[in-house]
Amino acid sequence: MNLFEAIFVRKSVRNYTNDALSPQMMGDILKEFEEIKSLFGGIETELAIFDNRKGQYKMLGMMGVKAPYYLVLYSEEKDRALMNAGYLMEQMSLYLCTRGMGSCFVGSPLLKKKYQRRDNKKMMVVLAFGKAKGSCIRKQIEAKRHSLGELCVYKETPRQWMKQLLDAARMAPSSMNSQPWRFVVFDSRIHIFSKKHTNDRLGRWDELNFGIMFSHMMVVADELWLDVDLIRLDEISQKNFPNNKYVLSAILRP
Ligand SMILES: Cc1cc2nc3c(=O)[nH]c(=O)nc-3n(C[C@H](O)[C@H](O)[C@H](O)COP(=O)(O)O)c2cc1C
Repeated sequence: MNLFEAIFVRKSVRNYTNDALSPQMMGDILKEFEEIKSLFGGIETELAIFDNRKGQYKMLGMMGVKAPYYLVLYSEEKDRALMNAGYLMEQMSLYLCTRGMGSCFVGSPLLKKKYQRRDNKKMMVVLAFGKAKGSCIRKQIEAKRHSLGELCVYKETPRQWMKQLLDAARMAPSSMNSQPWRFVVFDSRIHIFSKKHTNDRLGRWDELNFGIMFSHMMVVADELWLDVDLIRLDEISQKNFPNNKYVLSAILRP
């Protein structure tokens, strides 16, 4: 299984065995992180593995996930650092799935203050992971997701690769499965919007959620040899939409 295939079968895993990971596996995980390109340049990040097999890191909170290991991503606090963090961490989650391990994002980790910073970097996102009790994959049809019809407005008939890109984006995990993304689809560009929430609390994870969704788009682009640029178009940024907020546009060059 590669990252592309993992997109369609991954699921959040909340029950783990307490099995130890081999030093080789730990090394592979950190090496994989080194090889991922950031979504935006110029934001320094660092990944740490917390071994929680003795339960010393209390990251439980209200919706916490108890796991033998946590991946903790630290980042410089710059514009769109959270989006970049979601983008990087989701690729780690897909990678873990390709290696037969389960994972789950932890929205509000209650990590002691001393672990919340590393030098000039702040903890941005936590991923619980380890060997799943049961399976770490499922059939695509079992995922609870909005249909493309619900998420997209098509301005032109989409080609096959455009459908694949959108389908992968649709499968992205999001906090409380909120799936805040909406797409306006042209022949070779997608304008991406965030649905405005009625409850502001839900909106606080959106930057992270969008980073996660963009990682799915970029993994597919890589698989299909498409060139995709994610850019913010001024002419759309300046418009006001009643129910949606403009995020970015994906410009495709097949
Ligand atoms: C940013 C973010 C935060 C999340 N926080 C939690 C959490 O604190 N606890 C939890 O059990 N699941 C958490 N999840 C997992 C989502 O609930 C899950 O991805 C979503 O319901 C879709 O299910 P699936 O991942 O199995 O497809 C989080 C997911 C994201 C993307």
